[in-house]
Amino acid sequence: MTTIGSDGTGTDGVDWDARAAAFDEEPDHGLRDPRVRAAWAARLRAWLPGPPGDVLDLGCGTGSLSLLAAEQGHRVTGVDRSPAMVALARRKLAGRDAVFLLGDAAAPPVGEERYDAVLVRHVLWTLPEPGRALRHWRDLLRPGGRLVLVEGVWGTVSPAGIPADLLTALLAPLGGRVGVERLSGDAALWGREVDDERYAVLAVPG
Ligand SMILES: C[S@@+](CC[C@H](N)C(=O)[O-])C[C@H]1O[C@@H](n2cnc3c(N)ncnc32)[C@H](O)[C@@H]1O
Repeated sequence: MTTIGSDGTGTDGVDWDARAAAFDEEPDHGLRDPRVRAAWAARLRAWLPGPPGDVLDLGCGTGSLSLLAAEQGHRVTGVDRSPAMVALARRKLAGRDAVFLLGDAAAPPVGEERYDAVLVRHVLWTLPEPGRALRHWRDLLRPGGRLVLVEGVWGTVSPAGIPADLLTALLAPLGGRVGVERLSGDAALWGREVDDERYAVLAVPG
């Protein structure tokens, strides 16, 4: 397992600062294609509580999902450890009800704030202690709040990621309700057909 760098380098060893400028070129990152954007907007509307709510987007990247949440009427706080990503997210959501903080997704610098939803896409699998992060995120929720975790196992030759059954096992000690939504079959989300494992887990801890 790699460790978290003091710059924009994540636990996966990726230099996210270096990747920030081109990050949105991937269809599911930048959501520039209207069909891809609409597909994510519909999923997000179904996953998040009714607006207005307070949404914490951890490992927010350039803020593409943050923007969808803000457009749907939510107040958004985004956290990312890459300064370049945070700068792009701030620019993308300028004038919106959104703030972006530099920090570790596993221990976000949000003080005593509590949220209606913690949203995390494609980040949990890189964290060195995902079970510990999930417990911390549970503690950041208001009563009845939910975790919205979008993850997967990418690639079939050298797969990387976290399978849904492992993620749901990590959530089991938190109690409450856990549901898995399979996303691989929805090509509109990815801008192409995919054959690896992609899913969302919705959890309302007990
Ligand atoms: C694959 S990108 C996903 C970005 C965004 N969630 C999305 O779905 O568009 C991973 C992001 O997580 C950030 N990241 C990785 N490890 C992190 C950590 N420990 N704390 C905060 N951000 C982290 C990276 O800087 C990068 O912006």
